[in-house]
Amino acid sequence: MNDLIKAINELKKEKNAIILGHYYQKGEIQDIADYVGDSLALAQWAAKTEADIIVMCGVHFMGETAKVLCPNKKVLVPDMNAGCSLADSCPADKFAQFVKEHPGYTVVSYVNTTAAVKAVTDVVVTSTNAKQIVESFPKDEKIIFGPDRNLGNYINSVTNRNMLLWDGACHVHEQFSVEKIVELKAEHPDAIVLAHPECKSTVLKLADVVGSTAALLKYAVNHPEKKYIVATESGILHEMQKKCPQTTFIPAPPNDSTCGCNECSFMRLNTLEKLYECLKNESPEITVDPEIAKKAVKPIQRMLDISA
Ligand code: 13P
Repeated sequence: MNDLIKAINELKKEKNAIILGHYYQKGEIQDIADYVGDSLALAQWAAKTEADIIVMCGVHFMGETAKVLCPNKKVLVPDMNAGCSLADSCPADKFAQFVKEHPGYTVVSYVNTTAAVKAVTDVVVTSTNAKQIVESFPKDEKIIFGPDRNLGNYINSVTNRNMLLWDGACHVHEQFSVEKIVELKAEHPDAIVLAHPECKSTVLKLADVVGSTAALLKYAVNHPEKKYIVATESGILHEMQKKCPQTTFIPAPPNDSTCGCNECSFMRLNTLEKLYECLKNESPEITVDPEIAKKAVKPIQRMLDISA
């Protein structure tokens, strides 16, 4: 493994590449990445890097977002099959039709969407800035929010709005078991429940803190003396444990679990071996239709401007 890490670092230097990694990646990928972050941070780093090659260790839509922001750079992903169930729950043609059927609505799309969905969107959001961006619109603004119904319901509840929601969801966050979290809470009555807003409302009701991966991590770093039950993809525990080595983090289990944690199989497709191969061969490379990219960059840039 040390040889592989050395070889990746050499290739990275030789090719002036940058490795960006999401918190849901395997620990060894997070450790070798130049930057590890949530979806917003990944887009922000991609937008400002001077590297010639961006290796996006995450899922496909994250690579697409980087490519749309940096059309002249080469954007690589270690495994092209690393998709997203949430992005898949919102086919671009059906979403475009839905938007067409609702004239006069502002379209707010979660970043977990294809570039083609972003191309029919007014502003993109992540879980870090969704509340802030929705609240930037007048109270009576008619808004379509897609594709995550759980995040949409949560934002409706905290902003007191009634956005029209697309009926999509993340298969990992939908899987958390209310019963098992209640059991864990009984076992660890002093534990704080951290939950991502992609979880179902029944899980969010049990949470003490609801937020993006970066927000949940920040909360734990600021309160390392506490104990945590964590209801989001279990990759985040790597960075939590690294930043708070003395703290107990318990992954919330899904309904049908034998291992006790909830992993996104797409995120876990990326490995150090594939990262090495992708840097060496400069493939697989993300491409986005230039006409789609021209439209998709506007709502992404709008998000970055609001979040700056
Ligand atoms: P954040 O890291 O932005 O909280 O999003 C999590 C996610 O759904 C990544 O696919």
